[in-house]
Amino acid sequence: MSGLNGARVLVTGGAGFIGSHLVDELVRRGAASVTVVDNLVNGRRENIAHHIADAAADDATVRLVADDIRSEAALALVDDADVVFHLACLGVRHSLHNPRENHEVNATATLELLERARAAGVRRFVHVSSSEVFGTAQYAPMNEEHPTWPETVYGGSKLAGEAYARAAYRTHGMPVVVVRPFNTFGPRSHFEGDSGEVLPRTIVRALCGLPGFVYGDGEQTRDFLHVSDTARALAEIAECDAAIGRTVNVGSGAEVTINELVETVARLAGRPDLEPVRLEARPGDVRRLLVDNTLVSELTGFAPRTGFEQGVADLVDWFRTRPESPEEMLSRIEDRNWVASEPAGVTS
Ligand SMILES: NC(=O)c1ccc[n+]([C@@H]2O[C@H](COP(=O)([O-])OP(=O)(O)OC[C@H]3O[C@@H](n4cnc5c(N)ncnc54)[C@H](O)[C@@H]3O)[C@@H](O)[C@H]2O)c1
Repeated sequence: MSGLNGARVLVTGGAGFIGSHLVDELVRRGAASVTVVDNLVNGRRENIAHHIADAAADDATVRLVADDIRSEAALALVDDADVVFHLACLGVRHSLHNPRENHEVNATATLELLERARAAGVRRFVHVSSSEVFGTAQYAPMNEEHPTWPETVYGGSKLAGEAYARAAYRTHGMPVVVVRPFNTFGPRSHFEGDSGEVLPRTIVRALCGLPGFVYGDGEQTRDFLHVSDTARALAEIAECDAAIGRTVNVGSGAEVTINELVETVARLAGRPDLEPVRLEARPGDVRRLLVDNTLVSELTGFAPRTGFEQGVADLVDWFRTRPESPEEMLSRIEDRNWVASEPAGVTS
């Protein structure tokens, strides 16, 4: 089996930003069933509710199991899956104020899931890692052989997770593939709390008539891939037999500075007059990221379809049409969102 059509799929973290778009993609591809396990710490029921409310209209049955991947009940879901996409994790800023829990979820729980999936004999396990395993670019564009020197516990825990996934392939021949998306953007992306990303935060601020924040000199770069492209890449890599045992980078292949991002948002939000607020550099902020997509394109023919400018214009429109007003969203943005809002070590 290499196709997703007719497969029983488990998506950890499937109520989150990328996971929910992956669920959309799996339904489009005719998965027989899609089980989402997500404890909703950062995910939202609403992100997949359109499938659950209207399951009869799709060929797939989508269901949400609101549980922690560290629980036995969540692990048991692996037993009924043909394909597992593992996306559940805690983010980079969370790792700055709660490194131990970040490690438990991103690394230890990944090992447990892999062990369970091996025992269950799953036909494909797609481990979703991150370009944060690299740290800052030592050369660009960055291929899969680029050294891994993560700058945060998040990057370290994602690297541990992917190392365990590769080990499952090397030691036991388990059909595993590791995917490293670069920065992903689009609808359902996070502006709030410690999940808040620069692009949605800047858009919400612009819609409130406020300038974007630039940390440091703003010349740090990111490689932004539209989430519809990320989801399609994940599905295509899962369907590719030649990808088994491989580690595959996925990005847009275009580099955007934070200064350019803030200018683009202000212009597309109709507020080109907004001058960015310049603040001191953030801890653990990598300097440069730019993908080399050669391997993913050789394996699957993948190429991004939505460019940065078009994707940001669409995202501004998406934020304009949220039920929450921009001011309500703004109240959920924390300016220094890498700082603990509770004592370190406390499980949220
Ligand atoms: N967003 C990006 O730019 C980006 C870039 C590279 C890689 N990734 C990777 O993609 C994956 C998805 O990221 P995302 O941006 O959609 O983030 P997200 O926070 O929206 O999704 C992660 C989901 O995991 C869930 N989760 C967290 N801890 C859990 C637990 N203990 N049990 C069950 N569910 C839990 C959250 O509720 C959330 O819905 C992650 O593995 C991340 O490392 C994201």
